[in-house]
Amino acid sequence: MEQALWSRSCRALRQRLESLRRAGVVQLVRPEPFAVQPAGIPPARADVGPAAGDTAAVAAPAARRPVARPQVEEVAGGPSAAAGTMAPAPPEDRPPSLSRPAALDVLRHEVAHCLRCPPLAASRTQTVFGVGDPEARLCFFGEAPGADEDRLGEPFVGAAGKLLDRILAACGLRREEVYILNVLKCRPPGNRTPAPEEIANCRTFFERQLQILQPEFLCCLGATAAQTLLRTTQPLGRLRGRFHDHQGIQVLVTYHPAYLLRSPDKKRDTWEDMKMLLRAMGREIP
Ligand code: URA
Repeated sequence: MEQALWSRSCRALRQRLESLRRAGVVQLVRPEPFAVQPAGIPPARADVGPAAGDTAAVAAPAARRPVARPQVEEVAGGPSAAAGTMAPAPPEDRPPSLSRPAALDVLRHEVAHCLRCPPLAASRTQTVFGVGDPEARLCFFGEAPGADEDRLGEPFVGAAGKLLDRILAACGLRREEVYILNVLKCRPPGNRTPAPEEIANCRTFFERQLQILQPEFLCCLGATAAQTLLRTTQPLGRLRGRFHDHQGIQVLVTYHPAYLLRSPDKKRDTWEDMKMLLRAMGREIP
């Protein structure tokens, strides 16, 4: 009897693995332990889904494009304000499987059901995953959704987003040509700065997003994005003006558009940063 049950379970597992393999899934990973345990607080929405310990399917990223690199500087370590563990880099020789859009969709679905930060999961209208061209050479990395983003499900659609659109236009770019994502996928209530545990909980998501996107360039908007990505506590002023490396991505740091709305005198510096980025990308400066 037990033997029959065991055989049936093994057969079901084999079939499940085979169907995942046919769908292009090349690796199954256990999620990292969360900094905040989802204890006690119920989800806000009935459709907030699978248990935190569920196994996640990982799609193999497309191969990185060959890159002509400007001088890249590593950031000196130091204890990060944005603590957390980093997902291990995938081996370079993974067989190709899901396309970038399909791999992003798998991850988007996982993010939409995340309960790692119970208070944020309870207060969000929806998660805000990211938007833009999955093949973009350039990504913009912000902090967290605000009220407008939470309502519409898209990053940078409020006042700061309008300014980002103007910065892109000044660079001769449209938002459809780049990819925009945030550190946090949920809105922190009252637009407060993300807490270190929230950043740690979201780290695997944005790291995997970047592994799928494989951009050549990434522009960090503001100190939270920059310090989180580069795992540093150096102030933004010290991080600007040079390229940093993050797993082969050339990272430039500039002011957050919301800060520029409060301090318009910094727009000139931002334009200098953008020109540096455009030059490195080999693009004409308008
Ligand atoms: N600020 C951010 O950092 N991200 C958004 O999506 C909107 C405002």
